[in-house]
Amino acid sequence: MIPGNIRNKIIQDLSIVEVVSEYLPLTRKGNSYFGVCPFHDDKNPSMSVSDSVKMFNCFSCNTKGNVITFVAKYENISYDQATIKLAERIGLKISANTSKEALKQERLENIMNEAAKFYSFYLKNSDEGTEALKYLHDRGISDEIIEKFRIGLAPSLSDGLYQFLIKKGFSELDLIELGLVKQGENNKIHDIFRIRVMFPLASNNGKIVGFSGRIYTVSNQAKYINSNENVLFHKGEVLYNMHNAALFARQLDKIYLFEGFMDVIAAYRAGIKNGVATMGTALTKEHIASILSVTKNIVLCFDGDEAGIKAMRRSAKMLSSYNIIPEAVVLPNNQDPDEYIKEYGAKQLEAYLISKAKPVYYWLYKLAYDKVIKSDIASVEQFKHTVFEFINEINQETIIDYYLNQMANDLGIDINSLKKDFVNKIGKNSSVEVNNPTNQTNTVSQVQLAEVPITKAVRRAYQIIIKHCIYNHNKLNKYLAHTQDFFAGSGLVLEFSIIQAIETEVLINPKLLNTSKFAVHNISVLCSDEQFKEYIENIINDKFIDISNDDDFEQSLNLIIKFIKKVKTRDIKNRIIRGDDSAINDFTASKKDENNL
Ligand code: GTP
Ligand code: MN
Repeated sequence: MIPGNIRNKIIQDLSIVEVVSEYLPLTRKGNSYFGVCPFHDDKNPSMSVSDSVKMFNCFSCNTKGNVITFVAKYENISYDQATIKLAERIGLKISANTSKEALKQERLENIMNEAAKFYSFYLKNSDEGTEALKYLHDRGISDEIIEKFRIGLAPSLSDGLYQFLIKKGFSELDLIELGLVKQGENNKIHDIFRIRVMFPLASNNGKIVGFSGRIYTVSNQAKYINSNENVLFHKGEVLYNMHNAALFARQLDKIYLFEGFMDVIAAYRAGIKNGVATMGTALTKEHIASILSVTKNIVLCFDGDEAGIKAMRRSAKMLSSYNIIPEAVVLPNNQDPDEYIKEYGAKQLEAYLISKAKPVYYWLYKLAYDKVIKSDIASVEQFKHTVFEFINEINQETIIDYYLNQMANDLGIDINSLKKDFVNKIGKNSSVEVNNPTNQTNTVSQVQLAEVPITKAVRRAYQIIIKHCIYNHNKLNKYLAHTQDFFAGSGLVLEFSIIQAIETEVLINPKLLNTSKFAVHNISVLCSDEQFKEYIENIINDKFIDISNDDDFEQSLNLIIKFIKKVKTRDIKNRIIRGDDSAINDFTASKKDENNL
């Protein structure tokens, strides 16, 4: 594992032109260098190499990258090996250190793998194993599933695993660090997992990083214990079965997120192979990142009990900040997939999961409505409160409207008074207290309409604008003229900062105006900023953005102007809701404006 900052330093400090020219002749053309591309059968020099953007790029075969990528590809060595090689040129000796870390990681992974083998062997070859196998078979877990999920058994012996691993030559310290064994009061080392059915937990690349052990005999101990966090195992990152599910989830463009890993196994028995589960923790950013790298169609399948509904709510809220509304399925009678299969069979589970998936808000609404007793005003108020709370998190007005209407219907009350209720309740709940000059406290209502969604088209339009503005000062001016005094919604922070950075550069360096150095300078400044770098490089190398196509620029600008109008109208509406009367004039003015568009 070579730290990212070392890579960045190499890319930053080395001249890519100098390095590449040691491999092939380069000739200068303007501000870039060109050479015959070594990565395809090139006749003319199609590969440009540039120190200002620190990249090489072949226009013909589309191979591109930084100085490390170049050396790795050219010499046919790994990215890490190339990094080590280039590090020496800037006086960094990283080989010894990092390979030590990599070696340790490999060693620990090896230990976990051997531990899994031990547990697996013990399950199949011991008297205790016979009993544990009976437990598993009774739960419908076949030998095939046991193989697939590498299920094993931790013996009752106090140091069975310890003895096995020590005989294999592994170090005691490593075993302790991994949370497989620990030192007892009498200084004797003993196994942590005992008399438990063992489920290996793997990282996304399939290496075993921890275990979860379940009791299978009558016992007053915790149902499950998990490995403690260690160098390999981070609970907040692991999704059970992700290494197997990823392939299927990608193919089917859908992933099931279950509450427990036993549910993943149950679903697998029903033929659903794109299922994962967290290790009993709430969904984290890291979990979401691994899920989104596979698919953005997520189906939550949690228990219908209080804990399950809470988890569903929390996950929906987390995902809504990524503009994702997951689907959900709730099994009848508070059953989990495992219990459902036991009662109705695997085929039925598959059919249920596939046919009953609905947007998560459908379920949250339904589960709340199921608790309403119409004659009981308190239960009706509780219902309203629950629904108001979750719809307030939704970023789409039409969906909010849909549920308000549904509610008015279901409760047989007037939609307008319900809407007022909504605005009042949400206003009260999220109000802030401020001190006014007379020192009395005043509550300022924070009622907000949902954000204007940033569509793919809007983001794309910004990317097109950015590229045009990098290369052309007149276009930058034109963009600025139309977007004056408009501030970015939070979803477009990066795009806005980039355009702002170009603008600032122009202000600082007026000599650059309308010179051919304009673009080169902008690119080098923008790309020295880590935050922008990758984004800008992708835009610059994006063949579909053609800076000579003025129509594209105009169309993108128009789209952005429309978007800005929508955002402004929304802000004015928010002021109206908050009781700012002057906003009404602004509103009619902006309506006129919109009609003129
Ligand atoms: P079974 O009872 O074996 O069917 O498991 P389940 O999947 O139905 O478990 P449950 O719904 O009770 O819990 C869901 C998840 O919460 C499990 O997969 C565990 O990750 C976690 N969990 C449950 N009980 C415990 C516990 O006692 N300790 C720990 N650490 N985690 C638990
Ligand atoms: Mn269960």
